[in-house]
Amino acid sequence: MRRKFVAGNWKMNGSLESANALVKALVASVGSSPAADVVICPPFIHLHSVAGLVKDSGISLGAQNLSDQEAGAYTGEVSGAMLKDVGCEYVIIGHSERRSLYGEDDALVCKKFLHARVHGLTPILCVGESLEERESGAMEAVIASQIDAVLAAAGVEALCDSVIAYEPVWAIGTGMTATPEQAQEVHAFIRSRIAAVDAAAAAKVRILYGGSANADNAATLFAQPDIDGGLIGGAALKAEDFVTICEAAA
Ligand code: 13P
Repeated sequence: MRRKFVAGNWKMNGSLESANALVKALVASVGSSPAADVVICPPFIHLHSVAGLVKDSGISLGAQNLSDQEAGAYTGEVSGAMLKDVGCEYVIIGHSERRSLYGEDDALVCKKFLHARVHGLTPILCVGESLEERESGAMEAVIASQIDAVLAAAGVEALCDSVIAYEPVWAIGTGMTATPEQAQEVHAFIRSRIAAVDAAAAAKVRILYGGSANADNAATLFAQPDIDGGLIGGAALKAEDFVTICEAAA
């Protein structure tokens, strides 16, 4: 049985004051031993403050990105050691916004994946196809190549120790959620791709769905056999909605 997993990706939202208020509300509602793993990923600038508030709660801390470098003259970058030092356990890697807006390719995603693991951070590895790729029939090839890149660079054990998030680009922030059947189909494809290398590892890796998941549709999505939780954007910014989604995963 895979334990369900819900992560909130706050993206570039919130002031220090609103971030702290949101975390306080979540800590009060989620309690100290939630029935699913619950992770929040605030912007870098709020990590230190949020870390203090989630300490000893049932909520873990993640970052939205990290450098592929250890230290030194990399202006504006944040290393894995820094994230670990501030209290992060997880880090989102290869989000489609990083891939499409900041030019991150599979090679860089793999370097970041390895760097995260060196520092004891669990990657939340994002994969997903654009609408054009889906409509042209390239969906499986795109997702396979994103998965295969990390399999080749890090190995199947490392990939399956991480968390994978399937986020169809066309569903992110659009209100156009994948249907549970559409999402399940891709989750099963990802798991079978990994199972071809190591069936036992594939059976244990958690695969999250992300893309306009919300308090209303989370339960149906999470009921699918290969959907092990969600990576939540917009709905993670409202305490009540995020708590409902965590409850749907319980
Ligand atoms: P939305 O839930 O806002 O569509 O965002 C999904 C996402 O990109 C999470 O990483």
